[in-house]
Amino acid sequence: MKLSSRLEEIIRWVPSCRCAVDVGTDHALVPIALLSRNVVGRAIGIDKSPHPLAQAKVNRHNAHLTTRLELQCADGLQAVSLEADDVVVMAGMGGRTMQMVLQQTDWRGTLVIQPNRDQVDTRTFLHQQGWQSDGESLIVENDQFFWTSRWRYQPSQKLTVSPLELYFGHQTWLGSRDVFRCWFEREYTRIQSLPDQAPARDHLRLFTEMKKVLSELTNPS
Ligand SMILES: C[S@@+](CC[C@H](N)C(=O)[O-])C[C@H]1O[C@@H](n2cnc3c(N)ncnc32)[C@H](O)[C@@H]1O
Repeated sequence: MKLSSRLEEIIRWVPSCRCAVDVGTDHALVPIALLSRNVVGRAIGIDKSPHPLAQAKVNRHNAHLTTRLELQCADGLQAVSLEADDVVVMAGMGGRTMQMVLQQTDWRGTLVIQPNRDQVDTRTFLHQQGWQSDGESLIVENDQFFWTSRWRYQPSQKLTVSPLELYFGHQTWLGSRDVFRCWFEREYTRIQSLPDQAPARDHLRLFTEMKKVLSELTNPS
């Protein structure tokens, strides 16, 4: 099955595991691809709305995955029992919704997220809760940017995270160099054009710092 670049990017970050859970699964294309490609042994797709799950069931049937993919109508992770080596995927929702899902469960393990807003707030929340990112990427599809990151729960190794990483993701400027530069130029120009009293202008200092990092990458001394 041909997937969008956005969904392919989510799958790229999911490590091989016993069970992956996709919260907000909608069409269930992510767990279907993970099972079809044998990245995961078993998968659960969860959606709080019954309507998309009807299409998910058709997609599951067409992919011959009725026994390996469980579909649940539930809010977040409240109705599943997970192990620490399972992987939870959340995409196509706001970062605040993702934070709420995590606040309502005791499960901690590996997380792959692609929030469609509140990225900085979500990174900050995850760091405060003992999660650490081991990678973040930025892609562009249909002129829209998508940030995808992987997190592991490691409270005992709590590392200090720089303001640049909190704002721009874990080395996104290295791993997704060209797309990052494209996003950066647009966002920098947008913020600079805002009126002086706009709260977003408080971030200009970080943009100036990142501009220096990018220019050192282009012209190493
Ligand atoms: C825009 S779709 C994204 C589908 C898919 N994850 C993707 O990235 O293409 C968001 C889905 O999340 C579901 N959703 C939102 N909050 C949820 C929650 N707390 N628990 C389960 N599903 C949720 C919605 O019902 C909707 O079907």
